[in-house]
Amino acid sequence: MGQTVKVRSPINIALIKYWGKADEKNVLPTTTSLSLTLSDLWTETTISPNERTIFTLNNQPMNADEIQRLNPVLSHFSNTPFSIQTFNNFPTAAGLASSASGVAALTVALDRFFKTGFSFDQLVDITRVGSGSAVRSLVDGFALWHQEGHVSSLPNPFPDWRMLIVVVSKEKKAISSRDAMKITQKTAPSYPSWIQQSDVDLKEMLRAIQEKDPHAVGQIMERNSEALHAVMKDSQPSIIYQQATSLAILAFVKSLRKTIPFLYTTMDAGPNVKILVQAQDVEHVQRLLEQTFSCTVMVSRIGGKADEI
Ligand code: PMV
Repeated sequence: MGQTVKVRSPINIALIKYWGKADEKNVLPTTTSLSLTLSDLWTETTISPNERTIFTLNNQPMNADEIQRLNPVLSHFSNTPFSIQTFNNFPTAAGLASSASGVAALTVALDRFFKTGFSFDQLVDITRVGSGSAVRSLVDGFALWHQEGHVSSLPNPFPDWRMLIVVVSKEKKAISSRDAMKITQKTAPSYPSWIQQSDVDLKEMLRAIQEKDPHAVGQIMERNSEALHAVMKDSQPSIIYQQATSLAILAFVKSLRKTIPFLYTTMDAGPNVKILVQAQDVEHVQRLLEQTFSCTVMVSRIGGKADEI
């Protein structure tokens, strides 16, 4: 323990989605997922020595429930008191997965603060029990969170990509991804075939990345997201995160492709739409979306990982 440390972690967006655990206790996923980090949307966590342990999120004290949820991570470190200040540079209510960047920043900050000397694989194991998808923020490039639990990465050969996030709703989701994936796994008749298709998507995605084929990457990302929302709907009761506006945006993006061929969409456990786009088209597409749907469109560069700053 010692000096104040500050760690920043980007959020990550899956191109091949994670939706279900094969092992709840150790947080092992039913499928291998693949993501990219967004360098302009991040969580920053500062840990300093203190007489008593305090937690704040965006300058507000965290409540007991929020702190309790961090216990699986905290239990791996010394209980010497410290203060943890966490700050998200994007609206926490914007429907983005702040838990992934938050847990990745927390684990790396605790590791640096206590100088634990944990290996990368040990940090992955600790991070995973805090939030499964958080492990993908520990590496730069295309992050692979393998079914067996470990993480690896591939260099991203597409430096001119950007991600647009169309904020359809800022409301808290009705059902958490943690609970929703359990329902899908237990009740959706098509869940076994979703797993098989995910495996096919992953293999084809890896080939597309290796062959540096941006359209193939985009097409596979889009069909993988469509399959996720189909298997969610197939759950009993049905789980539906897409709103009418989300569907209208998906249709709008498809129609825009006639003039701007590189535009591909993906969606997670919420109504917001993420769009992969080339840097040269960002401003034009952003303006069209804002004008047509009167909603906020955030833009981010791609890359980065949880690291001390
Ligand atoms: O790790 P969680 O509970 O935030 O689940 C993430 C689920 C999706 O965002 C829908 C897919 C993914 O792989 O990020």
